[in-house]
Amino acid sequence: MSPEIIFDPYTNLYSEATSLTRSSEVRDLMSVTGRADIISFAGGLPYIEGLPHEDITAAMETVIRESYTEAFQYGETEGKGTLKEMLVEVMAREGLHAEPEHVLITTGSQQALDLLARTLIDPGDPIVIEGPTYIGALTAFRPADPGFITVPLDEDGMQIDVLAAKLAGLEGPPPKFIYVVPNFHNPGGVTMSGERRRDLLALAEKYDLLIIEDNPYGLLRFEGEPCEPLASHDRRRVVYVSTLSKIISPGIRTGWVLAPAPIFDRLVNLKQSADLCSPSLSQLFAEQFLRQGLWNKNLDNIRPIYRSRRDAMLQSLEEYFPEEARWTRPQGGLFIWVELPRYLDSAKMLPLSILQKVAYVPGAAFYVGGAGSNFMRLNFSFAEEDRIAEGIKRLSKVVKKEMVLYRSLGLDH
Ligand SMILES: Cc1ncc(COP(=O)(O)O)c(C=O)c1O
Repeated sequence: MSPEIIFDPYTNLYSEATSLTRSSEVRDLMSVTGRADIISFAGGLPYIEGLPHEDITAAMETVIRESYTEAFQYGETEGKGTLKEMLVEVMAREGLHAEPEHVLITTGSQQALDLLARTLIDPGDPIVIEGPTYIGALTAFRPADPGFITVPLDEDGMQIDVLAAKLAGLEGPPPKFIYVVPNFHNPGGVTMSGERRRDLLALAEKYDLLIIEDNPYGLLRFEGEPCEPLASHDRRRVVYVSTLSKIISPGIRTGWVLAPAPIFDRLVNLKQSADLCSPSLSQLFAEQFLRQGLWNKNLDNIRPIYRSRRDAMLQSLEEYFPEEARWTRPQGGLFIWVELPRYLDSAKMLPLSILQKVAYVPGAAFYVGGAGSNFMRLNFSFAEEDRIAEGIKRLSKVVKKEMVLYRSLGLDH
């Protein structure tokens, strides 16, 4: 909220939906964590400095020289056909074979989540989410006022046996969809195993449910064997969402959704009311970047950087964090998910951490209804190795000090 708002005279004008929106904790934090003196593990920022600057300038010049009118004109709501053809190639890299006419280009994949929420959810409709889940998905789904059914994650992703039990015990209407981030989960860092993917698809079949598969990080794998997207096994039941934010840049705001034709049509109608079309300039630039194979160059460049930053963070956690803490060991992506002793509250600890000039995102932000308070999400892609080591060292002191305090008060249970 803006600091100057003390009294809001417009309160009785707001819709129900806006009162269900909350300012995301990540966004609120960004104002502080952007300061140069803070070591930030808070954002989900890719390493933009790693992009090939000269190639980018050349690609942008080509767009302006060869497609000036198109670049600065409105475009089709569905998105530019020639970019869709390139996105089909990006999906094929992960084993998902699609047709350009089923791809809707969105203004970031965040817009795809928002459009899906508005297309599918009526107030009170149940939907299934992972616990923890992506904050932006909660932000997108909340205004539609669903009933959230949370299924916990473990090392192999969503616990499908828990989902099965919840579905079996459900009274009332079935969930509108199951929302999952199967690769290098944000914030969990874990990847859904092949077996769990098969079980999830079988359950969706059994109960006739739709799955929303959100896959921004699949191509950011730096070790281990990739798993095929859920959508590659069932295009009728799986709506697939992805983005160029992590393989090119979040600044171009280019994402997409691959959906069955009837859902696709509804999404297009809603997108028309949201923004008419995604920016033509971004789409043309993205197309050039993909067509010239610069995305592969960029991925080859950033994967080893992220890997070495992940290693630096894991090593520092091992070295400095209390032995009661646990954390995930992601094989790709941007995040490590840390579990602290149950009695600690990572949201209460955050101001102390910021005083020590380190920031993270408290775990409760990734849950509906109060769970996750002893977890924190750490981003490893943004800070350099020496800053990571220093940041984790400082953070460990804050954690250990809190533990001593709780113990001395007898509150360590
Ligand atoms: C799981 C997940 N989905 C969607 C997004 C949104 O990405 P964008 O809107 O930049 O495409 C993010 C961004 O961090 C994410 O982590």
